[in-house]
Amino acid sequence: MNRNRRLRQNSTMRSLVRETTVLPSELIYPIFVTEGRGIKEEIPSMPGVYNYSVDRLYEIMEQVVNSGISGVMIFGVPVHKDSKGSEAYRWDGIAQKGIKYIKNHYPDIVVVADICLCAYTNHGHCGIVNEGEILNDETLPYLAEMALTCVQAGADMVAPSDMMDGRVEYIRKVLDNNNFKNVPIMAYSAKYASAYYGPFRDAAHSAPKFGDRKTYQMDFANVKEAMREISNDIEEGADIVMVKPALAYLDVIKEASQRFDVPVAAYNVSGEYAMVKAAALSGWIDEKRIVLENLYAIKRAGANIIITYHAIEAVQWLKEI
Ligand code: PBG
Ligand code: ZN
Repeated sequence: MNRNRRLRQNSTMRSLVRETTVLPSELIYPIFVTEGRGIKEEIPSMPGVYNYSVDRLYEIMEQVVNSGISGVMIFGVPVHKDSKGSEAYRWDGIAQKGIKYIKNHYPDIVVVADICLCAYTNHGHCGIVNEGEILNDETLPYLAEMALTCVQAGADMVAPSDMMDGRVEYIRKVLDNNNFKNVPIMAYSAKYASAYYGPFRDAAHSAPKFGDRKTYQMDFANVKEAMREISNDIEEGADIVMVKPALAYLDVIKEASQRFDVPVAAYNVSGEYAMVKAAALSGWIDEKRIVLENLYAIKRAGANIIITYHAIEAVQWLKEI
């Protein structure tokens, strides 16, 4: 008889043969930064996740530092929105202010800036719009300007999430020309048009006011196309590629990690977090065990880095595994 149970008989035996790990150093925690003072406002569809004004960022950053996770991903939530998203690429825009504060006070944390216009435009699309069309090439300079101002504010890495073609190459050139040759790009390469971003859009007030994002984000039926997106981004200079969302796209993560020799990040997005939290708050699932199982699944599929709203809590739970 094949007695596979021999290696499962107790917890130390199981840890001896465990094939996958999830380490705090592999996690990135997303942070929403908003204008004003004294603000720490819970996002209704994301219990436990808050919008912070810069003066209260220390509250979450202390937890980040104590947890031992490597990085944070910064999302600005501006008050003023206009057709070209002009708050996105001001030197003193809200994301830039948050980045500057964090980098000054927590120099060892990797600060990643999400680069996209949707939270800053009054139409809620990720690019410049003309007569209902989301323009590709016209958007690139704005994204590059946002990337540059975020890096000037202290960002260690930029993560374009807009899904315009050619943006990685464009951003790389602008960073290089401004003496930021050493700042890596983590490209949201295989980013699907997904209903799992719903709670994020509540948080960032970034839902599109007309239409949807299907002309630039990917069709969820496709996986070859994801490989094409990833390989294009690597050619253009991406240092890390991302698959997003994570849990409904484990096949895409797996294929990407087998095919490409750059680090693969997976974004465990807001809707995935919200579903777990809602069920946990109803007492229907064991949150701790579900979160660990999900994070291990993402790692098992081949992700090297996980961006997750569970990061801080998960670090505690990982110690108990
Ligand atoms: C901005 C951006 C989004 C997310 C990350 N960057 C929203 C979107 O594309 O609509 C989603 C993150 C999440 O749902 O947690 N483009
Ligand atoms: Zn966007």
